[in-house]
Amino acid sequence: MKNLENYMLKATTLEALEKVRVELFGKKGLLSKEFIKLKDIPGREKRAFAENLNKQKASLQKSFDKHYETLKAKAIRALLLSEKIDVSLYSNISNKGALHPVTETMDKIIDYFVAMNFAVHNGPMIEDDFHNFEALNLPTHHPARDMQDTFFCNDGKLLRTHTSPVQIRTMLKETPPIRMIAPGSVFRRDYDVTHTPMFHQIEGLVVDKEGVVSFANLKSILTDFLQYMFGDVEVRFRPSFFPFTEPSSEVDISCIFCEGEGCRICSHTGWLEVLGCGIVDENVFKAVGYENVSGYAFGLGIERFAMLLHRIPDLRTLFEGDIRLLEQFE
Ligand code: PHE
Repeated sequence: MKNLENYMLKATTLEALEKVRVELFGKKGLLSKEFIKLKDIPGREKRAFAENLNKQKASLQKSFDKHYETLKAKAIRALLLSEKIDVSLYSNISNKGALHPVTETMDKIIDYFVAMNFAVHNGPMIEDDFHNFEALNLPTHHPARDMQDTFFCNDGKLLRTHTSPVQIRTMLKETPPIRMIAPGSVFRRDYDVTHTPMFHQIEGLVVDKEGVVSFANLKSILTDFLQYMFGDVEVRFRPSFFPFTEPSSEVDISCIFCEGEGCRICSHTGWLEVLGCGIVDENVFKAVGYENVSGYAFGLGIERFAMLLHRIPDLRTLFEGDIRLLEQFE
C-alpha cells in the first residue's frame, strides 16, 4: 500500500492523477480487485482482511484527496499566472472611440480654410435680431424671420438661424482686411430626412479695400475647395438671392453618385446643391460702418457635406446617438 501511495504521488498534473484514480479506485481498479478476493477468504480471516482493506482504502483516499488539492491549487496558480495582465502597460484598445462624422467633416473643412489663411471666429448661439437679421439686410417682414423658421426666446432674443451673424460681429470688432470662417451650430424649426432643428454651418467672409475682392476670387476658391472635398467634380454657380449678398449665387457640384448622369439623389438633374455665396451687399457694410470696401461671403451646411461624403440617407440618424450608426465611422 505504501507503494501505491508513492505511485499516486508521482502524478504531477490533475490529468495524470485522474488516471491514477481510475487505476486505484475505479470499478475495475486495484482496490475493487482486492475486495473481490474477499469471497475466497475463509470465514475466520474474512473480517480481519476486510477491516484491513477498508483501513487502507481510507488512508489511500485521504492521501489522494490531499494530493488532489495540492495539484488543483498548483493548476489554478498556473492559470492565474498565464492570464495575468499588466494594467499599467500601454495597449491598443480595440473598441476605441471615433470622431462623429459631423465633427470629422467640420475639421476637414476648417483645415482647408486655415491652410488658405482664414482665421477661425466664433459667435454666440443665442443671438439678437440685429446680428441675425437686421444688420444682414433682412428687412423686418422678410419670411426668414417667421416663427415657422426661427426659435424665439421670451426676452426677444433668438437661436441663430445661420452663422452669418458672426460676419457682423467680426466686422464690428475688427477693421479690414478680414479673412475669416465661422463654424458652429445653428437652429431652425425643421424636421425631416434632410433637416434637423439643430445643425451646423460654416460661414466665410473676406473683406478688403474697394476693388480688391471680386466674384472671380470667390469662384476660384470655392471651386478649389469643392474639388478638395469631393474630388474630380464639376462646379457650377447658379444665380440666386440672399438679402446680405448681391449678386448672390448657389453653388452646385456634378452629382457624385451618378457623375452627372441623373439619379434619385440628384433628382435626375445631375447636380447637387452644396452652398450659398455672393458679394457682400452694400447695406451690410453700411450696418457695420464700413466704407470703400469690397467683400465676398459664403455659407454651407456641414451635415449636407457629411451626408454626401458618407452616403447617409437620413440626416436625423446623425443625432440619435445610435451606436450602430456611429460604429461605422471608427
Ligand atoms: N446664411 C445663408 C444660409 O443660411 C448662407 C449664406 C452665407 C449665403 C453667406 C450667402 C453668403 O442659407
